[in-house]
Amino acid sequence: MNQDLRKLNKNITDENPWEVFPGAFGNSKNNIKIVENFLEPEDLKKIQNFVKTINKWDNEKKSEDYSDGPSKYSAPLWHNRLCSHEMIKEMDAEIYNLIDLYLTKMEDSMNKNYNCKVKKRPPSIVCWRPGDFQVCHADKQILDGRPNAFPDYDLNSLFYINDDYHGGELFYPQHYLKIKPRAGMAVSHPGDINYLHGVTPVLSNIRWVIPAFFSVIEFN
Ligand SMILES: [Fe+2]
Repeated sequence: MNQDLRKLNKNITDENPWEVFPGAFGNSKNNIKIVENFLEPEDLKKIQNFVKTINKWDNEKKSEDYSDGPSKYSAPLWHNRLCSHEMIKEMDAEIYNLIDLYLTKMEDSMNKNYNCKVKKRPPSIVCWRPGDFQVCHADKQILDGRPNAFPDYDLNSLFYINDDYHGGELFYPQHYLKIKPRAGMAVSHPGDINYLHGVTPVLSNIRWVIPAFFSVIEFN
């Protein structure tokens, strides 16, 4: 691995917009970490019950585009699908704290798995209804390599809350990997275009996911 990529960039410019360079983690399939039963069954049950009560959606964030066309963030895609951390906290502070515990657990896993120190962000919960899908994307770059609206989403994870739906598989085409999420499973991967991923259409029932986005603050 090119060690230069693993230094934090302190001189961010338009030409070099990255604090953590895309490619810093290489392109090994081993960086896609899948952990079954990351969430304890009794905690999972509490979160499963909570998601059924969600009745507010965060539609605040607006779309962002590059002046030459490509989208940095598409708000319509997430309309009425995102429950923000403020909303979770307001609806049920205990659930918020419970999810936060697992984010701390994920922070620890990432520090070990990716040889760095990361900082977490507060959780959100995303609803995937029948017909919802996601095209192949990276979490911090657009497909031509430029930053998207979240250039500091260096390492990211997904907690799967339920699995009583059809479709909604997570796939990584560059790594020939397709994952049928299981309730309680956690998956993590780097946010750059060496880890493009997408989600096949949900075919029935509702799929609930807690995505979480982390930034590297130090490399080991
Ligand atoms: Fe993603």
